Amino acid sequence: MTYDFDRPIERRKSGSIKWTKYSGDVLPMWVADMDFASPEPVIQALRERVEHGVFGYEWPSTELTEVVVERMQRVYHWTIKAEDVIFLPGLVSGINIVCRAIGSPGDAVLLQPPVYPPFLTAPANHGLTTAQAPLTMVTNGHAIRYEIDYDAFEAAITPRTRLFLLCHPHNPTGTDYSPEQLARMGEICLRHGLTICSDEIHCDLMLGGARHTPMACVSPEIAANCITLMAPSKTFNLAGLGCSFAIVQNAALREQVKKAEAGIVPHVNALGLTAALAAYRHGDDWLDALRQYLTVNRDTLVDYVAENLPGVRTTEPQATYLAWLDFRESGIQGNPFEWCLEKAKIAMNDGAAFGSGGEGFVRFNFGCPRSQVIQALDQIKNALIPV
Ligand SMILES: Cc1ncc(COP(=O)(O)O)c(C=O)c1O
Repeated sequence: MTYDFDRPIERRKSGSIKWTKYSGDVLPMWVADMDFASPEPVIQALRERVEHGVFGYEWPSTELTEVVVERMQRVYHWTIKAEDVIFLPGLVSGINIVCRAIGSPGDAVLLQPPVYPPFLTAPANHGLTTAQAPLTMVTNGHAIRYEIDYDAFEAAITPRTRLFLLCHPHNPTGTDYSPEQLARMGEICLRHGLTICSDEIHCDLMLGGARHTPMACVSPEIAANCITLMAPSKTFNLAGLGCSFAIVQNAALREQVKKAEAGIVPHVNALGLTAALAAYRHGDDWLDALRQYLTVNRDTLVDYVAENLPGVRTTEPQATYLAWLDFRESGIQGNPFEWCLEKAKIAMNDGAAFGSGGEGFVRFNFGCPRSQVIQALDQIKNALIPV
């Protein structure tokens, strides 16, 4: 079946955060949702659920849990049990719950900036501090990529560090860690008694044939010490429907997570559960086509930056639809987020919000029709090189 990812869809009237935060003359290339309609079977399942007309509290169905268990086996060769799955309304809630479950005030959480901003802020919500092991940027011409400095990673751990918050695939760098990299980080965490929370929300959006390995698949010892957070929300563009889940194979750790969410975290809503089931059961053909489309968008962006944006460098993400652009040698004055907003009328995410190593960078969302990616890049080019 063919899918039309080129079709622009008007979103300003929908209350979209992405499309209404900035004025009407600004093209939004920021927050991580896509401008594509979800797969048709999801829309059809939602129609049928809406027709039912009653929207009370709901449990996740046995069928949905079975679909998650089956998917982990089929896609990642990861054997989990139904009881390992805890449904949650969102991953940011999940990250906060895990901080609450694992740490006591004064304990520290290990992070790898630059990183998705809630990783930086969640620990403090629970009286925890952060121990930071910044990723190392490596430049190759117009391309940048990030590596792990294992010595810095281990040196950042103090006797009060209890938890490692891993972002895998990593937002904003687009790195999907290899089993060897995961094993090395995991081994250090186990040796220092850290619990690992692996946010894998972007794991289904692998580009150009790259394969994802969940952290918990690396060894039984890591699995016993790991909380994995996943969701259909980025994959099938369902972020506004709030349905995600944690996989916790260690029963004691699972109880800690459940205890930490009790009384604070609401049930997943009826429409989110409906959409998740339909997406996982019937969305994979659409997802294959989406990945191909996003891969061409990524390659278009990487070539465009190299050929047309002097002094700008970019990642070539292995996963998801977020590119990380380095403007530090572009010759512009000040913060590139503000500069692009004012001069090019393009809204991206300000790299400074991603912590150490983010200043001078912006995050560009290419999860939209290709014509929009090119229009945004043209506007940045024309601002950089006034015609
Ligand atoms: C790494 C990462 N985790 C979590 C989220 C947000 O998850 P949720 O909307 O389920 O809270 C995002 C959204 O961009 C993300 O990139």
